[in-house]
Parts: sequence; structure tokens; C-alpha cells
Amino acid sequence: MKKRIIIISLALVIVMALGYLSLSIRPEYSGVNYNPAKSQNETDKTIKFDAKGKLKILHITDTHLELNHNFDPTIWLVERACDTEKPDIVMITGDNVVNCDDAEETKKVINALMNIFDERNIPVAVTFGNHDSEQGAMSREELMAYYNTFSCSVSVDDGEALSGCGTYNIPVYSSNGEKVKFNLWVFDSGDYDEEGRYSCVKPDQIEWYKQTSDKLKAENNGEVVNSLVFQHIIVGEIYDVLQKSDSWKPYAFKHLYNKEEYYMFDPDRVNYGTIREYPCPGYENYGQFEAMVEKGDVLAMFTGHDHTNAFAVEHKGIDIVNSLSTRYIGLCHSTQCGYRVIEIDENDTSTYKTRVARIYDMFDSEVVKEEKQNGDKFTYKVAREFAVKGKIQKTASNIYRKVVETFTGRQVTYPD
Ligand SMILES: [Fe+2]
Repeated sequence: MKKRIIIISLALVIVMALGYLSLSIRPEYSGVNYNPAKSQNETDKTIKFDAKGKLKILHITDTHLELNHNFDPTIWLVERACDTEKPDIVMITGDNVVNCDDAEETKKVINALMNIFDERNIPVAVTFGNHDSEQGAMSREELMAYYNTFSCSVSVDDGEALSGCGTYNIPVYSSNGEKVKFNLWVFDSGDYDEEGRYSCVKPDQIEWYKQTSDKLKAENNGEVVNSLVFQHIIVGEIYDVLQKSDSWKPYAFKHLYNKEEYYMFDPDRVNYGTIREYPCPGYENYGQFEAMVEKGDVLAMFTGHDHTNAFAVEHKGIDIVNSLSTRYIGLCHSTQCGYRVIEIDENDTSTYKTRVARIYDMFDSEVVKEEKQNGDKFTYKVAREFAVKGKIQKTASNIYRKVVETFTGRQVTYPD
């Protein structure tokens, strides 16, 4: 009897393991294009509101592209995001390409990423995270120069004058093209300080922001030009808007630099989304956020870096918003992978709309059926993987959240 139970148990384990493996093994994606930029594609680099007065931004971050490491599914996800959302501009906020052995391999991976936007003529603004130049294969300046060989790039190398590489602004023109109606700030928030802790936006970049903000205001008849900020690393003020606790609670996370303190959503504030890990701002703070409060032209700051955090909290009139990593990473984090969409209307630039597209919500049995009919084995496999594993992850997450909320009375996640 005992022997039979062992045999049946073993058989069950083998069946489950084979089932899991069959979901995980997939053919290569034929859609990846590793070739250099196609110079015949000319993307219009003037960003303006469309004929209906709308601007749609796709925020992609932390793709962490590296060959042979969930590379194909991540490329496919970015393509799918572009084709589903049809954005007017894509903002990429760092940790784009990582862990490449040399410049040749780095360029090959950048080609695969940038060809997505180049082939679709979607303007794209790039900045860097802590990992982009970490390996040393290419410096930030060399990386930016290469990104800018693509016609779709609207990124700027700020030159020697500013710390880092990739601090600039993109004016957004009215639909009739006559005046600047909105503005997008891009900051290089650096990588690490001398102690190996995370970096932040430096004093010279803040000074540049203040001067450019004043200039835009002066050119706009003395009225501030409303704007959004995009950068890799979140500002330290995030810990001012979370609720502090002296002990661990579910969905409470240790302060990055003070392991005695725990932080979670403050129910007395307006919150959106989910916190799944402790936010990782720079150790120093040279006053970027306060400068933006003072100038009064920033509606929201969008960051990546903390891959599983997708939330927004308001502080001193500015929304501090984190977006999910757009990297496919398999079962463990399939609930925490996606992208963000931001929409602005030129008739009222004092506000914006945003939503998170979590990958697991995008794939169900209908999508799997469609992909099967398309006949591409890779896309069918990945869609099925997302649909099955995503559903398992989503169910487990929801059960945990419900249990926590029932037993503690705390709301631990909010609608996106
Ligand atoms: Fe990252």
C-alpha cells in the first residue's frame, strides 16, 4: 500500500514537472531584428498633441535586456505594448540593456530594442539607470550616441555641462504646432555614490531645471508650462508620504537606509496601486523634489528602478509615481511586470490620466486561441505561458491580499 502511494506521488510530481517544463520551453522569436538602424526610416521628432488634442505616452522601464535571459519574450512584450497602445511617444527610464560583454553585444541588444520603435516610427526618449553602464562595455555618453543613431530617438546628450548623460526636456507643441503647451523632463538620476549607495539628481542638474523652467515660463507669457518628469530613481521624499511602523506588518517594507523602520501606504492619503518592495531612492538628496514644488510646473514624477512597485501617491501637489518593470521574468513575478500609459489633453494640461497594464491581465484563453490561429509557435507559447502562470500568480496574490485585509483591517493595495 505504502509502495503504491509513493509510486503515485512520484508519478504526479513527474507529470506536474513536465507540464511546467512544457510551458517554459519555447522556440526563438523570429521577430527579433538585431540589425543596425535603418536610415531610410525618418521619424518626425516634433512632439505635439494630435488633431484631437491628445497626447499618449507609453512608459517603459527596466527592460534589463540581455541575450539568452528572457530576451525574446521581453522584446515581444514591448512590441505588443506599442501595437496595442499606439503611443505618440515612448519614455524609457533606464536599466534598458545590461550585462553585455562588450560594445558589439551591447549594440546588438540596443538594435533589437530600438528597431521596435524605428520600424513603427514612434519617437522615443531614453535615459539611464544604475545598471546601463555598470558593466563598463560602453559609457553613458557612448550609449547615448548609439541610441541617437536611430531616427526615432529624441534623446539628448547634455554634454559636459551636466552630471551624468541624458538630462534634457522635450517640449510638446499644441495640435496646430504654434506654441509649447506641455513639457517632458528627462533626468539622468545616476548610478551609485562613492559608498556604493544609489545616486540621485545632482545640484547642477537641479540648477539647469530651475533655469529651463523659468525660460519656458517667460516664453509662455509668464505662465508655467505644465510638465511630467521621467527618471530612473525615485526621490527620497517617498518615505515622507508612507506611514512609518516600528515593526513588520504584511505589505510593510523596511526603509532602504534604516532597517529599523518599516513603511507602508498611509490610509489618510490618496493612494493608487501596490507596493511590493521597499523604494530605493538615492542616499543623498540635493533638493530636486523641493525645486519642483517651488517652480510649480510638475504634475507628476515617473520612475522605475523598483521593479515590482506600481503606485502613485500625492505629495505637495506632485504625484510620486513608480512604474513596473517591463521585463518578462517568468512565473515568480508575472503579476509584477508591465507598462504604464499616460494621457494628456491639451485643453486642460493641469491634469493627466494614467493606468498600469499588468501583463497577466492581457492574456486569457481568447488571446491564446488567437495566437494559436496566427500560427507563430513562439507567440502562442508565450501567450499560453502568461495566461496559465499569470492566472496562478494573480489568484495567489489576491488571496494573500484579501487575507491580510480581512485579518488586519488595513487596505494594502489600491486600484491602479
Ligand atoms: Fe532595474
